[in-house]
Amino acid sequence: MNSGTILRATGVGKKFASPDGGEIEVLKGVDLSVSQGESVSLRGESGAGKTTLLNVVAGLESPSAGSVFWGDKRIDNLSNSKQARLRSGFMGFVFQNYCLVPELDAFENVCLAARIAGKFNVAARERAHELLGSVGLKNRERHLPSQMSGGERQRVAIARAIINSPQIILADEPTGNLDETTANEVMDMFLNLCSARKTALLLITHNPDFANRTARRVKMERGKITEI
Ligand SMILES: Nc1ncnc2c1ncn2[C@@H]1O[C@H](COP(=O)(O)OP(=O)(O)OP(=O)(O)O)[C@@H](O)[C@H]1O
Ligand SMILES: [Mg+2]
Repeated sequence: MNSGTILRATGVGKKFASPDGGEIEVLKGVDLSVSQGESVSLRGESGAGKTTLLNVVAGLESPSAGSVFWGDKRIDNLSNSKQARLRSGFMGFVFQNYCLVPELDAFENVCLAARIAGKFNVAARERAHELLGSVGLKNRERHLPSQMSGGERQRVAIARAIINSPQIILADEPTGNLDETTANEVMDMFLNLCSARKTALLLITHNPDFANRTARRVKMERGKITEI
């Protein structure tokens, strides 16, 4: 393996039990790797298997075949708790529907990720303030998710993904719920933050303009990578 590879899937297959009794083969021998600091976009039709692949490389779903490595470490055969321990400092997530905790304000949502990683201290609080400032939310720190716009919520989610300085962020249609102008603003900020911090990014997007702004573009078609 290339020593700069931080995420790698080899021969990954995934089958789901179908509600009608059969089996659905959603991933069919996928090979994918992401290097340190590299941004990679993943496109493909609805149902192609993009979210499933993201879940498998994140260790949130186990593959039916093949293996997944984080750095040099094979993780698909580890227990959930071991994966969770490794994941919290290594990987950040941004989802389409933000996934903020509704009872916590913007600042507390960002700090929560540091708490979960066991890294909550004075420095983390400072980092949370700094990150919320750099995503333009200095005056929204005490707002609950319900008191923020969609674009603001996603900025909080981006700050939360970055607070532990992960090696890589996995993002599934992060601007899919936003209007075009807001989507552009949020994506600009997100891509700039990742590149300034040399954080690798695996970005699922249907937007060809956003895909064109990543260093590498990958396409999925019916469970296979078709274009690299
Ligand atoms: N838990 C599951 N059980 C059974 N089938 C599933 C399950 N999860 C996903 N699938 C099926 O796997 C296929 C791929 O789903 P996936 O969510 O990975 O697609 P996608 O490429 O992310 O699509 P979209 O662009 O619409 O988000 C779909 O046909 C879906 O119905
Ligand atoms: Mg999806």
